[in-house]
Amino acid sequence: MQHSNHPFIWHPFTQMKTADPPLEVVRASGPMLYTKDGKAYLDAISSWWVNLHGHCHPQIADAISRQAHQLEQVIFAGFIHAPAIELADTLMPLLPAHFAKLFFSDDGSTSVEVALKMALQFWHNQGKGHKTRIIALEQAYHGDTFGAMSVAERNAFNAAFSPLLFEVHRLSLPHAGNISEVLRQLDDWLSTGEVAAMIVEPLVQGAAGMQMYEARYLDQLFTAVHRAGALCIADEVMTGFGRTGKLFAVEYLEEQPDIICLSKGITGGFLPLGVTVCTQDIYDAFYQDDKLKTFFHGHSYTGNPLACAAAVASLKLLQDASCRNRIAAITQSHSAFATSLQGHPFIKDIRHLGTILAIELGTPESSSYFNSIQQAAYRYYLQRGIYLRPLGNVVYLMPPYCITGAELEQVYAVIRDSLDWLMSEQ
Ligand SMILES: Cc1ncc(COP(=O)(O)O)c(C=O)c1O
Repeated sequence: MQHSNHPFIWHPFTQMKTADPPLEVVRASGPMLYTKDGKAYLDAISSWWVNLHGHCHPQIADAISRQAHQLEQVIFAGFIHAPAIELADTLMPLLPAHFAKLFFSDDGSTSVEVALKMALQFWHNQGKGHKTRIIALEQAYHGDTFGAMSVAERNAFNAAFSPLLFEVHRLSLPHAGNISEVLRQLDDWLSTGEVAAMIVEPLVQGAAGMQMYEARYLDQLFTAVHRAGALCIADEVMTGFGRTGKLFAVEYLEEQPDIICLSKGITGGFLPLGVTVCTQDIYDAFYQDDKLKTFFHGHSYTGNPLACAAAVASLKLLQDASCRNRIAAITQSHSAFATSLQGHPFIKDIRHLGTILAIELGTPESSSYFNSIQQAAYRYYLQRGIYLRPLGNVVYLMPPYCITGAELEQVYAVIRDSLDWLMSEQ
């Protein structure tokens, strides 16, 4: 290999001893990443699901540049600024109408921490401190901080910390075959009166391998939670901003959550930013003369003006008809590709919603993030100029919306060829 690990740098989610050395990216444009050795890679997973409109989109880059010359950062307690105001005024009308307030943080994990703390303190502030239980879904992933790890599935990722994580009730992913049992289990837990909230990744569990479930079952879960007087939290860190075909996955639902977590695509993939949005009722439980009812949470970079300016520019692009048309076109192309793959002997399952397409490979090894086919598949795609990062034996696509029909066809062709090769290697 011509590349090597940097002597000082430790990469995320990377076993530094066995992983291939990283590729040095020098520039990016549209869906393309260009490396120092003169190669080009099509970023078919939007760089960990953050990029929406393509890399270095000039409108977002210009918005950040203008803002950097005006106001780069200011403490957000006691101060406010135009980019935060503009972002709030742009984002709130795009969300379901019952949402009233938004709280800034730094990334997906912290948007989840904020949501959990908000839900727990909502009850605490009302003298209902016994409501401390959280319900989460099996296979869930909500981030890497301690609260987020606690509500995530217990697995190899958080095993080292498991004694320190708080206990949650864990519900199976609902489907036609188990919905009655899932609802019965849910009602059992709710009947204790101890449940503060349920948190879910609505309709698509990303890190679990793009596991999908139907809106009508999530509607039933949210309805049961609300009937019992507890709160519903939708973690839209991955699903938000058009990934599922609608602007937000909750638009597929009748029964709406009380809190939504947003991040990743919010700045179009330029800068880290988290936002947690809640209802007026939740806000009112903190809006008191009693200073002890304050929401005691904040980060140094809360509401960073550069990130807010990037988000405003990205949201404008997202609302443009041409972007909406691209989302619809990607959705249609994925659907046709999925149909064309039906019956392939190496495919165990194909899942598709909006711009997300997942192909679960039928390896002899059981399905898992640690399935050894991952590395072979990853290398295969890189050698052909496509950046895909399978989740174990699940190869998935989540491209930036600027990807053209021809580029998509190129990715599909490489995936199609890979299926035969990977199968023959088993
Ligand atoms: C649903 C969901 N929630 C939270 C997170 C954590 O986001 P971040 O990596 O920005 O902390 C992720 C990241 O993949 C996610 O998919």
